[in-house]
Amino acid sequence: MEKYTEQTFNIPELKGISRKAVEEHLKLYAGYVKNANLVNEKIVEYMKNGDKDAYALGELQRRFSFEFNGMRNHEYYFMSLEGGPQPISADGALKAAIEKDFAHLGGFNGWLNTFKAIGTTRGIGWAMLYYDQHLKRLTHAWVDEQHLGQLNGLQLVLGLDMWEHAYLFDFVPSEKKKYIDAFFDNLNWSVVEKNFAWITR
Ligand SMILES: [Fe+2]
Repeated sequence: MEKYTEQTFNIPELKGISRKAVEEHLKLYAGYVKNANLVNEKIVEYMKNGDKDAYALGELQRRFSFEFNGMRNHEYYFMSLEGGPQPISADGALKAAIEKDFAHLGGFNGWLNTFKAIGTTRGIGWAMLYYDQHLKRLTHAWVDEQHLGQLNGLQLVLGLDMWEHAYLFDFVPSEKKKYIDAFFDNLNWSVVEKNFAWITR
């Protein structure tokens, strides 16, 4: 059985996002790792008596992608805040891909504004930038909760957590846009570029 391990992240002081918010957020991340493991263990346990426990088992199966994606989404999120802010390389492969694949939105700045707008989607979830290996292009989407709307076969390049727990220590709900700006002010684009380089290697 897979056993997931809690990762550690070297996150510096952030601008606009408090240490307290990051500390509490990391505790929630730890909860996803713990519960992804727990769900796996419980599935094995309930399988022993699958007919009798079919309903409980079904709910555990349904819940796994919530816990797993909650774990993995947060790993991308916290990794992208490690090492302090770094701008995107002006002549790098990711910038070029964004310019090309989102030319219809006006290139990089148009993409960024659109991605930020996706982040303001009502409800709790994530704004995601993915790479589609089949079409060899970037695409972006909203994911509800941690898992609903994850796109099959696409790989995550950048994930922006839009659950209220990500910003309520520092911003009121009507200030979502300020939190999104703070995220991008703190974003280490070199990490995001490494994600992209790994996917497209
Ligand atoms: Fe979160």
